[in-house]
Amino acid sequence: MNRKMMIAGNWKMNGLTAEGVSLAKEITDKVKAKKRTCEFVVCPPFTLLSLVKKALRGSKIALGAQDCHWAEKGAHTGDISPAMLRDLGCEYVILGHSERRADHKESSALIGKKVEAAHSFGLKTIVCVGETLEQRESGKTIDVCSKQVRESLPEGVKAANTVIAYEPVWAIGTGKTPTPQEVEEVHAAIRGVLTKKLGKSEADKMRILYGGSVKPSNAKEMLSLEDVDGALIGGASLKADDFIAISDNAGC
Ligand code: 13P
Repeated sequence: MNRKMMIAGNWKMNGLTAEGVSLAKEITDKVKAKKRTCEFVVCPPFTLLSLVKKALRGSKIALGAQDCHWAEKGAHTGDISPAMLRDLGCEYVILGHSERRADHKESSALIGKKVEAAHSFGLKTIVCVGETLEQRESGKTIDVCSKQVRESLPEGVKAANTVIAYEPVWAIGTGKTPTPQEVEEVHAAIRGVLTKKLGKSEADKMRILYGGSVKPSNAKEMLSLEDVDGALIGGASLKADDFIAISDNAGC
């Protein structure tokens, strides 16, 4: 199956104006310097979206946000709506990241509601799932990830508007990664859930990214796996050289 690789950077809560703009410019220059076959996405914090959008001008790098509310507008102090993200030029929004599931007690049901809202405003979603260390050690990885995929995706999602990211919680920011076999096992299980939910044709087209301590040195191994269609990168996306080296090493 010919799925376009995605290299996505999740900047998380990092970057003041000057450094955010200069990182975006550096990434833009490096991406433009060579012909590349993958799709790049950068997801800065809300505060930098407009400035980063400007810095990405003239490149094909897509802009993404890291969360949104499910409502178009209204009395939701401190929240940002999908309509606002569209208005700023976002193409993607990350939803259901484990840091939001943990820090903000987001349930898969709530995430599903956000996914639906994001799609209705023309955003594409990167929907994250992943098990904790405790869940992995007790043999629940496949069950946990399958359940999160089933419950976080509303009816009618398509490969054209949805990307899944498998991010084991214990691999995020720790330097630890699952073995390639473990990654492939979870990705294949997720593809199976998608097949049941959406039918084989959509499931085969939908991209499933791996995230969790991806760096230039492990990019080739992780991104050459059968069901791995790219990476969602945290720490290494904050250095333009590393972010681009991941794509170079993955051969995209
Ligand atoms: P790290 O690449 O820093 O482990 O973070 C992964 C992640 O959470 C991306 O969303």
